[in-house]
Amino acid sequence: MPKIRRSMHGHWSSGVVFVLAATGSAVGLGNLWRFPYLVGESGGGAFVLIYLLCILLVGTPIMIAEVMLGRRGRRSPINSLRVIAREEGLSPNWQLLGWMGVVAGFMILSFYSVVGGWTLFYSVEALQGAFSGISGNQAGQVFAGLVDSAWLVVGWHTAFILILFVIVAAGVRKGLQRAVTILMPMLFALLVLLVLHGMTTGGFAATVQFMFKPDFSVVDATTVLTALGQAFFTLSLGMGAIMVYGAYLPSSTSIPGTTAWIVGMDTLTAIIAGLAIFPIVFAANMEPAQGTSLVFITLPVVFGEIPFGFVLGVMFFALLTLAAVTSGISLLEPAVAYITEVSRLRRAWAAAAVTAAIWLMGVAAGLSLNIWSDVRLLPFMDQGIFDMLEFISSNILLPLGGLLTAVFVAWCMTRKTVLSELDLHSHGQTYKIWLFATRYIAPTAVILVFLHSIGLF
Ligand code: PHE
Repeated sequence: MPKIRRSMHGHWSSGVVFVLAATGSAVGLGNLWRFPYLVGESGGGAFVLIYLLCILLVGTPIMIAEVMLGRRGRRSPINSLRVIAREEGLSPNWQLLGWMGVVAGFMILSFYSVVGGWTLFYSVEALQGAFSGISGNQAGQVFAGLVDSAWLVVGWHTAFILILFVIVAAGVRKGLQRAVTILMPMLFALLVLLVLHGMTTGGFAATVQFMFKPDFSVVDATTVLTALGQAFFTLSLGMGAIMVYGAYLPSSTSIPGTTAWIVGMDTLTAIIAGLAIFPIVFAANMEPAQGTSLVFITLPVVFGEIPFGFVLGVMFFALLTLAAVTSGISLLEPAVAYITEVSRLRRAWAAAAVTAAIWLMGVAAGLSLNIWSDVRLLPFMDQGIFDMLEFISSNILLPLGGLLTAVFVAWCMTRKTVLSELDLHSHGQTYKIWLFATRYIAPTAVILVFLHSIGLF
């Protein structure tokens, strides 16, 4: 019976489209903005290594689990978990996992869309030729001019969220499918071009050294927690985005196979982004640990000096905006799908309600970079609103969501359901490896990292 269940929101036209959409969700600011800045802040190679381990041992099995749950339930994460829990004879409270994901999605999107606004601002700056011959210092001033201005930050954040609203309101299928097919490969090609440029800067050897030679003396509990959080963030895991995309996946598609593609492309993009950005940092003697501004200060410098830098710069920032948009819509989709399921509200109205709420939180995040920089919402966390939202959502809610997903799928659901939805045999290698990772490795890793980071051992 569940095999013929259909999603009221429609389906992807093929497994390939699902891979593209999920890759669109995974590849975004997490790869091109967050990954490089975290590598820079966390001291390089050791962080990269721990991150890769988290992707392989924790992220990949959990992605398979999430896609499987989505396709099984064919609904928004909240309702899929509710229905599956009922069918499996489990507590209806499992739907709280879906709710937690919606909260995490709101928090992420509120700061994500602030950064999305920056990419729009940079696209326009590039178009006006603002980067031609620019030095590192000047690029720093451009960035400061942006984030120090409450009006600019909020204005561009608003523009970005409006774009998301229009697309999600229209329904994800048509426009987006096409955009993802053509534009993501273009973004990737541009990144490769930037790496080739990086090889000529004299900073490339230092980059390889920095990114791939682990120095464990700089690793502490926070480094490991950050790497784990980034693994979830970059793969869009732990909050239902991949689950809801799985709900629209054709029944005949192999879940482990598609997952391998998504994880592979996401990881490659992050590594390539690092290889493109750090040569500039080292060649220009910039500071790798400068935080959120890293990409926005380094890349204008390259576009200002390379041949065809004007065209390439415009293209790059436009494509970066697009990559952020394709991720942003997947952050909205779980909540929007849920509202349309339970309220009979039209999709456009559901999207309007969700984006309005997130817009408001985003304003707070944006203002915390300038006029509200002293505001602290949580007395026990000395972080501004932007940083706090980023920390709690990525480092706590996503790994926690992933942990509960793993427990639900590998400890609570019946083997029969799992096997039939994954279309695997219980004695096959793929199943055995996946089950072991989801049952033991992923939960243990998350729990250990949590305990360690609150200083428990
Ligand atoms: N994976 C996206 C990125 O790397 C961000 C994201 C996180 C999207 C969580 C959906 C869910 O930019």
